[in-house]
Amino acid sequence: MDELGVALIGAGFMGRAHSQAYEIAHTGAGADGRFRFRREVVVEADESRAASAAADLGWERCTTSWRAVVEDPSIDIVDICVPPGLHAEIAMAALEHGKHVFCEKPIANDLATAERMSRAAASADAVTQVGFNYRNTPAVSFARELLDGGRLGHPLMFRGQYLQDAAFGADPNRWRATRATGGSGMLADIGSHVIDVAELLFGDIVRVSGLVRAIADDTSGGWLAEADRRSERRLDDAGAWIAEFGNGAIGAFSINAYSSGRNNELSFAFDGSLGAVEFNWNRREEFRVSYVDEPADHRGFRTIHTNDNHPGGWWRLAGLGTGYIDVMAIQFQDFARAILDGCPSAPDFASAARVQRIVAAVRHSAETGRWVDPTNPHLADADTAFDAR
Ligand SMILES: NC(=O)c1ccc[n+]([C@@H]2O[C@H](COP(=O)([O-])OP(=O)(O)OC[C@H]3O[C@@H](n4cnc5c(N)ncnc54)[C@H](O)[C@@H]3O)[C@@H](O)[C@H]2O)c1
Repeated sequence: MDELGVALIGAGFMGRAHSQAYEIAHTGAGADGRFRFRREVVVEADESRAASAAADLGWERCTTSWRAVVEDPSIDIVDICVPPGLHAEIAMAALEHGKHVFCEKPIANDLATAERMSRAAASADAVTQVGFNYRNTPAVSFARELLDGGRLGHPLMFRGQYLQDAAFGADPNRWRATRATGGSGMLADIGSHVIDVAELLFGDIVRVSGLVRAIADDTSGGWLAEADRRSERRLDDAGAWIAEFGNGAIGAFSINAYSSGRNNELSFAFDGSLGAVEFNWNRREEFRVSYVDEPADHRGFRTIHTNDNHPGGWWRLAGLGTGYIDVMAIQFQDFARAILDGCPSAPDFASAARVQRIVAAVRHSAETGRWVDPTNPHLADADTAFDAR
């Protein structure tokens, strides 16, 4: 059995989740006994956080220096779970030292940085992967299988959302609030997940037209006027955009951090010429599908509860569920196989830079009031100008 030594940088919310997922990646469903992750070292911002992270989350050692860790010969994988403003520096240093890099999303806060990271990954002798974990949900993988197999016909329309309510009452000084503290705005934070899933299922987005907004200091005041949001250099809390895909399908998207009662609603519905699908992460076992070729008196949506007959499903008994940590364990299993077999990893830094390109396109459209083609070569400069304001 191959053992892969992991260094975790950042043991907050996501570092905790990753720590658990490594534990079950080699014991849960889909494990093939070929590899084991060794939780070698955890890095935190100060000594007391580092020590408690090691003790609580099962890491062998701890330190406060990620620079020492990226040079450490006992480390095979550097796993980056700090705020996105710090991702690039750590990832590039780790790649330079030949480490495989797992990085949380968004890989960066602006397109130019994301593309620099993607180029560094392309020229390194190492595997990269990015934490778009929701794509590993069995219902999402099953949707992809049905689309790829032609069972749902030609893709016609995709409607995607990511709505949360955690921002109500949240600490206004949290890192997510500003660019200076490493934040990206919700378009890159949660919007990147729904963009990843949309392109996984429907292919490349070729143009977008969008709006973004930030909330007023007093939430009851609604959205800030856009001119004020820009002059106050506020990151976006919400966005809405329409899109066209390369295969001719059309799409509509919305993301909102102030969406009461939505919990963690990453949801989508899409229509194909032979059938349609609905999915909502808050009920992630449920896969709702409708087929056009049903007898007229049976037409409509049926609800399937995913089990181990579906890609990535963990349990024979539907209803036991595949949860948040499980989909992360699936992503780590894929990552380990890519490292050991030398096969492509997905989603890698190139795919994450592609997602960042769509984020930049929506931002640019919101600023200019125009349709934006995400392949526009000037988009990275426009995105950097947006950040610098
Ligand atoms: N894929 C998902 O479902 C998902 C969910 C939440 C967050 N994320 C992503 O994970 C990343 C981290 O987010 P989070 O919610 O865990 O944030 P967090 O604030 O909970 O944790 C970040 C941790 O990084 C530590 N840190 C900061 N600077 C450091 C440094 N120089 N060295 C070592 N440690 C340092 C902080 O002390 C903190 O414990 C972000 O990129 C975020 O977008 C992904």
